[in-house]
Amino acid sequence: MTDEKFMKIRLNSIHPSAPVPFDIFVHIGEKYIHYLRTGDRLAAEKIENFERRAPDAFYIYSSERDNYKRYVKERMNSDQLPTKEKALILRESSMSLVEEMFESPDVGRALSESKAVITDFVSFMDKDPDAMAHLIGLSSHDFYTYNHSLDVGIYSLGLGKVIGYSGAELHELGQGALFHDVGKRHVSVDIICKAGPLDDVEWAQMQKHPQFGLMILNNYPVSDAIKACCFEHHESYVGNGYPQQLVGDEIHPMARIVAITDTYDALTTKRSYNSPMMPSDALTFMKEKLASRFDPELIRSMYEILFKMKEAKIAV
Ligand SMILES: [Fe+2]
Ligand SMILES: [Fe+2]
Repeated sequence: MTDEKFMKIRLNSIHPSAPVPFDIFVHIGEKYIHYLRTGDRLAAEKIENFERRAPDAFYIYSSERDNYKRYVKERMNSDQLPTKEKALILRESSMSLVEEMFESPDVGRALSESKAVITDFVSFMDKDPDAMAHLIGLSSHDFYTYNHSLDVGIYSLGLGKVIGYSGAELHELGQGALFHDVGKRHVSVDIICKAGPLDDVEWAQMQKHPQFGLMILNNYPVSDAIKACCFEHHESYVGNGYPQQLVGDEIHPMARIVAITDTYDALTTKRSYNSPMMPSDALTFMKEKLASRFDPELIRSMYEILFKMKEAKIAV
């Protein structure tokens, strides 16, 4: 059981370059134990050791939330840190939002917090030409709903930028992509975490997540585009997707983007029954074997992202 007094963070969002301005705890048994005290510095070896053993078990006081955000912002604005490290800090610090999106009873709070997170991603991408490639290069190799949501958000911002989205439209796309699977809140964890293919009953339940997502989002003042990312991301370009069997342009353009980034992420991450594909293999597979599902022009634009990754010397 976690305590409201504490907020989970990823240790990778802390950079060893400066003393930490808040206490950090580990959760062991029922207790929160000091791991670092305010003013201590985090040794790089300590991060690696602990991350390997207990990746999710770091906390700060919830009351330090703003302090933590300020800390992340300062790191992101520092001239000292290379793009790759900034990408890691931004990605890891955003995980608490994604956890909130799936675990907190209040989706509204996650929705409003996500605006600032998307703004941080967009301004990082705007400021640094290699940012997108590094953010994508850091994508998790494990398929886990939280990682998946964040990565689909990042890829969608990348693809959106490539095809010329900016400003409010790009933000909307980022938010829609981040929340595309929010309906999985209503699908049993046993189905979501099942190691292996789903049986018919489980599959039927899983396929309801776009409807569940729409039901959730209908309770909040979000745009039709954001709702479409959630409700239409499993539609297929030729019309045999779900839940509405929409065809081609009937599918909202942002949902067409999410359909691609969603599949791309599923192919490039490891699940219990498949091994991850390299980015270029995944795209070739989508272009050749799954072509009918996607907007062909958007698939072509995905290659631009691969190109940027190659330029930033990330293995594709
Ligand atoms: Fe989905
Ligand atoms: Fe998804």
